[in-house]
Amino acid sequence: MSYSDHWVDISLEQINSDPDALFDRRSTLSVYPQAQTRKSFCQRIMAKKMALSCGGILVVVGISFATFLASTTGSPTLGMDMKIGSKGKQAEETCTTEACVVAAADIIKSLDETADPCEDFFQFSCGGWVASNVIPDSKSKWGKFYELREAVDQAVRTIVETPIEAEDAQAVKNMKNLYNGCLNVDAIEAQGYNKFVDMVYGDEFGGWPMIQTSWDGSVFSTEKVAGDNLRTWLSSTLISVYAYLDSFDTSRNVLYIDQTSLALPRDFYIDQDTYADYISAYKNYIVDIARVMTREIGSGVSDTALIQAADNIVAFETKLAIGVVPDSERRNATEMYNPMTYTELKNKYPIFWNDYFGRVFTDTDVVLEESETLITFIGAA
Ligand SMILES: *[C@@H]1O[C@H](CO)[C@@H](O)[C@H](O)[C@H]1NC(C)=O
Repeated sequence: MSYSDHWVDISLEQINSDPDALFDRRSTLSVYPQAQTRKSFCQRIMAKKMALSCGGILVVVGISFATFLASTTGSPTLGMDMKIGSKGKQAEETCTTEACVVAAADIIKSLDETADPCEDFFQFSCGGWVASNVIPDSKSKWGKFYELREAVDQAVRTIVETPIEAEDAQAVKNMKNLYNGCLNVDAIEAQGYNKFVDMVYGDEFGGWPMIQTSWDGSVFSTEKVAGDNLRTWLSSTLISVYAYLDSFDTSRNVLYIDQTSLALPRDFYIDQDTYADYISAYKNYIVDIARVMTREIGSGVSDTALIQAADNIVAFETKLAIGVVPDSERRNATEMYNPMTYTELKNKYPIFWNDYFGRVFTDTDVVLEESETLITFIGAA
């Protein structure tokens, strides 16, 4: 096994979760005795930093990047050849396939070779990318994955803007209808706000207390609202439930049960002193929207009452946030994967399941059997 084989051998997941693994592996195997020279030491730090600081690029160009690291570390200059399956320094093969050339060009464009990597590694490794990627005005952050997302959005847009054709799949027809419905502002305006309020918070759900002067809590049902939000609006309320490929058997879909997602990042709720500006902007936003609704339905709820309600909402979300496991403790997908039958789920977490799923599967022929395996994606609690 050559030196660079060891590098390529290490999965990207490992590099991301534990950059030190790269170096541990190397020192254990002692395949590169010159590692202790000053230059090599610097480059070890570089590689470590690259794994940590330029994650987006690292993930996207994938193995080519690991190979790039392998081919550069230990050599005095930074060669741009993509060396695949190198048999050591004597017999290097250069990959010239289209994919390699494109990946290599991507890496070169992302570098700023005028920067000294041992002085400012971020500038060296990402400077070119930063210089050619201004954060778009409509975005608060930008990166490789956002670029990909944008490309996918554009592709989808091309599809939905093409008139419905007879041979379109039903899902595509639905998507085109949905898109055109959203753009039909005249029809939406003609329906007015009452239609919206009825659909989302109508009598069936017990109304929307914030914008009503009187509210009858006895009609309100958490499972109904949570289930209907998912069924009708694909919006998770209090818990997240979704169907997705079974991580351990990708030939089938399973239902995953996960913790709720929050309106703001979890830290904002936990550390409200630091994020005071965000919390108050969020409360203002809630009040602004509710004020429009209050005016449109003519209920005359006072601003003071709306502000109080916004405070209550954030206080409730803060309690939820305290119960939510932070992302930093959700990195081990194996540990998160906890299959159990529907019956076991109900015994372990005795809450509203039957009513909730009844609502989620309204008007479908889905029957959730007691023996059905669900994946609770909530860590081994
Ligand atoms: C992930 O969790 C599993 C199961 O608890 C454990 O065996 C494994 O070592 C963990 N992996 C990492 C990288 O911590």
